[in-house]
Amino acid sequence: MTQSVSVREVGLRDGLQLITTVISTEIKGTWCAAQAAAGFGEIEVTSFVPPSVIPQFSDAPQVLADALKIDGLLATTLVPNLKGAIRAMACGAQKITFVLSASEEHNMANVRCTTDESLAMFAAIIDERRSRGMTDGTQISAAIATSFGCSIQGAVPQKRVVDIAAQLVAAGADEINIADTVGYANPAQVRRLIVDVQSVTGAVPVATHFHDTRGMGLANVTAAADVGIRRFDASLGGLGGCPFAPGASGNIATEDCIYLLESLGLDTGIELPALLDVRAKLEHWLEGETLEGRLLKAGPAKTFMPAR
Ligand code: COA
Ligand code: ZN
Repeated sequence: MTQSVSVREVGLRDGLQLITTVISTEIKGTWCAAQAAAGFGEIEVTSFVPPSVIPQFSDAPQVLADALKIDGLLATTLVPNLKGAIRAMACGAQKITFVLSASEEHNMANVRCTTDESLAMFAAIIDERRSRGMTDGTQISAAIATSFGCSIQGAVPQKRVVDIAAQLVAAGADEINIADTVGYANPAQVRRLIVDVQSVTGAVPVATHFHDTRGMGLANVTAAADVGIRRFDASLGGLGGCPFAPGASGNIATEDCIYLLESLGLDTGIELPALLDVRAKLEHWLEGETLEGRLLKAGPAKTFMPAR
């Protein structure tokens, strides 16, 4: 039987946080709806950060409100701290992704506190959800940035990432997302780390988030799929990057990632022609920005067979 995988679009968050073009709330809504119509069940639509830090996300409440109206879509949002989580929950967020970094130095640069302080904040976010009652239970995912190394501090020990994952699970995380923020990972390292992380996550699902900074992105997806990962982040047109990590650049391109997974016989549920239409429109919405991704240029092979 064909196995299903889920690809979460992060272009509206990771993709938009590093570029200079500020796009309108209306275009964000159109983009989101079009990708949902192409079959995406989960889209990270915005980020609840201070507008002074990333002006692109000053419309976060409206973008989330618009996305929540789309039938069948799980609209997720990034939060860097407790205040962001409270703002997102107050807007009815269905799922939030709390980000912390395994690299102490990147955590300090990104969210201005130690990794232990971020872990304490994660526990406070879980408490905040509890105090709001179980009925509006926002799912809480935890993303561990710089899991494969850091462009500020260098090496990040594998054991440290596993320990952090274990603490997040014990605190009540609904998902652990292992992120290669600066594109340092290679497929052998992906297999080793993911297997180790899975040994402490139990029934809590593990997702991966790869950047293609050194051309390893899709190879890393294949390695992660080989060891059982069924949740992947990707960004349309390969946009993206953390503004607080030197040398950061784009995520794996969603369209290429879908093509890869389908070619491997993993059913993404995505209509590729509809996705490529959205990708073509992105060129207009983000005129002047450099977009990546091979599939739009070359088109699918004549021999391509979707998994389904
Ligand atoms: N949303 C809106 N406002 C926020 C906020 C949030 N999530 N978090 C803090 N603020 C406000 C505070 O209320 C305070 O406002 P005031 O000066 O009017 O009182 C001000 O911002 C400073 O708050 P503080 O808690 O001291 O924040 P900080 O200066 O320690 O910065 C972060 C911490 C997390 C807010 C900041 O580092 C940040 O936004 N980082 C963004 C990380 C990111 O998005 N990276 C890319 C994704 S990986
Ligand atoms: Zn990222």
